Amino acid sequence: MVILEAEHLAKRFGPVTAVHDLSLTVAEGEVVALLGLNGAGKSTTLHMLLGLITPDAGSIRMFGMDLARHRTEVLSKVNFAASYVDLPGALLVTEVLDAFARLYGLRRPKARVAELIELFELEPLARRPMMALSSGQRTRVQLAKALLNAPRLLVLDEPTANLDPDAGDRIRGLLGDLARTNGSAMLITSHNMREVERMCDRIHFMSGGRIVAAGSAAELAGAYGAADLEEVFLKVARG
Ligand SMILES: Nc1ncnc2c1ncn2[C@@H]1O[C@H](COP(=O)(O)OP(=O)(O)OP(=O)(O)O)[C@@H](O)[C@H]1O
Ligand SMILES: [Mg+2]
Repeated sequence: MVILEAEHLAKRFGPVTAVHDLSLTVAEGEVVALLGLNGAGKSTTLHMLLGLITPDAGSIRMFGMDLARHRTEVLSKVNFAASYVDLPGALLVTEVLDAFARLYGLRRPKARVAELIELFELEPLARRPMMALSSGQRTRVQLAKALLNAPRLLVLDEPTANLDPDAGDRIRGLLGDLARTNGSAMLITSHNMREVERMCDRIHFMSGGRIVAAGSAAELAGAYGAADLEEVFLKVARG
């Protein structure tokens, strides 16, 4: 089943064409990556799919509904995490999660928050204010927040950028399990090619706002005569 279907998206910022004629799909249970150089248009694409910015052209359908027309219903089944989104610094970790749980209208907010605190091993941090956390610790809170509503589509903009190798490895395992067991779809960006090889079923390479290559890691390596995704990235990026 198709969860997300974006067609011919475009976005300009003044003279900059950030995204141009971009189409992509994400199916149930699928983990899809958007890759590309800094400035390629990845975050802009995600922000359009999340309804944070309005596309200049194109259409976005999720769960069979048009995003613009069924915004509240569509977005209730989606969530997002990114290191550049700040959660309120003065609130304790539990307060942040409780507030979002209530905002999302969860039926058993306390129980769900407790589940996610356990899943992301946040017990030792639960009574600390957000501003007293390291960036990697904040990332774990962001991810816990993003899973509160058990989203059918999880959008992650560089989810593991701030994590140490041990935490990164555990979070990748955890997100992978989630996709496999719950059928949650994921759309992620990353500059960590090993992470993408491990997690993602399909990869879209963006360059100058367009998708210039797509396929599984193995298909792309084959097509570009490359040993791994890192080499594919360099070949695509350097034209
Ligand atoms: N609000 C904005 N106003 C003006 N230009 C913008 C804005 N947001 C993005 N851009 C421009 O659009 C282009 C795409 O930016 P975007 O953030 O989508 O890139 P990205 O692929 O996410 O890069 P990175 O890997 O660095 O996160 C860049 O040239 C950027 O400068
Ligand atoms: Mg970005």
